Amino acid sequence: MILVTGGAGFIGANFVIDWLGAQDEPVVNLDKLTYAGNLETLASLQDDPRHIFVKGDIADGAQVSELLNRYRPRAVVNFAAESHVDRSISSPEDFIQTNIVGTFRLLEAVREYFGGLDAANKAAFRFLHVSTDEVYGSLRATEPAFTEGNAYQPNSPYSASKAASDHLVRAYHHTYGLPVLTTNCSNNYGPRHFPEKLIPLMIVNALAGKPLPVYGDGMQVRDWLYVGDHCSAIRRVLEAGRPGEVYNIGGWNEKPNIEIVNSVCSLLDELQPRPDGKPYREQISYVKDRPGHDRRYAIDASKIQRELGWVPAETFETGIRKTVQWYLANPGWVAHVQSGAYRSWIDSHYAVADAA
Ligand code: NAD
Ligand code: TYD
Repeated sequence: MILVTGGAGFIGANFVIDWLGAQDEPVVNLDKLTYAGNLETLASLQDDPRHIFVKGDIADGAQVSELLNRYRPRAVVNFAAESHVDRSISSPEDFIQTNIVGTFRLLEAVREYFGGLDAANKAAFRFLHVSTDEVYGSLRATEPAFTEGNAYQPNSPYSASKAASDHLVRAYHHTYGLPVLTTNCSNNYGPRHFPEKLIPLMIVNALAGKPLPVYGDGMQVRDWLYVGDHCSAIRRVLEAGRPGEVYNIGGWNEKPNIEIVNSVCSLLDELQPRPDGKPYREQISYVKDRPGHDRRYAIDASKIQRELGWVPAETFETGIRKTVQWYLANPGWVAHVQSGAYRSWIDSHYAVADAA
């Protein structure tokens, strides 16, 4: 089996659902259930014996060690993190605690567990750390996309804390021989995305008749990847990546934010027109810019294509259509996130394994 951390969040939950959809290898899912953790997202796995959910903190070394010794996973995939740049600006402390201290404690527990494995299990074991392109900083319009050789130049407390975690992961390979893999991925979008990030926020605000807040001039560029493609890339790196290596993951889809917002509006005009027949883009509202806002991210994903044969399956056009359709088909999920009712899902609907 594998141990996934942060598997009740956006990407982790998509990863667990895709994983168990494709094969029977069980998943132990360790998640602290912060505001970003939503067990309702995993409702389809509620009675599935291949999915063992454990509420807990990656920074709790004793709990992680107990889980490793109990379930003896062949791999750990670390998604757990504080992930929202705006929150990292208003309250950075949680980012330092989970992304840096948490990753350190997780690595320590894994190092101890790895040390006790026999030679065959050691050779097969992997620690895959899921990171972000934001560690590389901001690109000017004419600069080439980030390769794995770019210097780290993080600009927000979020990206700085992820950069620190990447360095720790690297050090545990070089110092202790832990077979680590690091992936640095561009902006994800897709189903089950918490509506504080750009794309889901625009969808749910548009449908609710609320303003669509575009920061600054809306010309910041992000490189968008459908979440299912990120999950397939992680599976591929886990399967065939070389220990100690870093793989950039991206969809070759650079777009300015305003173009993204316009695409969402056009799709909604087509799929669920406003009752008054007016276009959703009338709800766009330019607001004060984010402090220190990175201008452009772009990922050069040629290494993972060349070495591991991975390419994304979705174009932006197919992926964004699937995403908007998912939100239209799941108004209950959206309503529970917005009302906060998803927080009580754990008590009312889900049997949670006790790690103690
Ligand atoms: P998310 O915020 O949606 O989910 C994070 C999950 O981690 C939540 O379920 C939360 O409860 C859990 N968590 C937080 N602190 C924890 C802790 N101390 N112990 C255990 N669980 C904890 O984030 P996401 O968008 O799914 O991102 C997952 C990972 O992918 C993160 O490491 C992030 O840096 C990285 N990443 C995200 C993107 C993106 O566009 N969302 C892009 C590249 C990389
Ligand atoms: P976000 O989804 O928060 O991801 P990240 O900051 O990690 O790239 O934001 C994506 C882009 O959209 C970023 O340039 C900030 C911008 N943005 C807005 O213009 N309005 C919003 O309400 C949000 C949440 C983001």
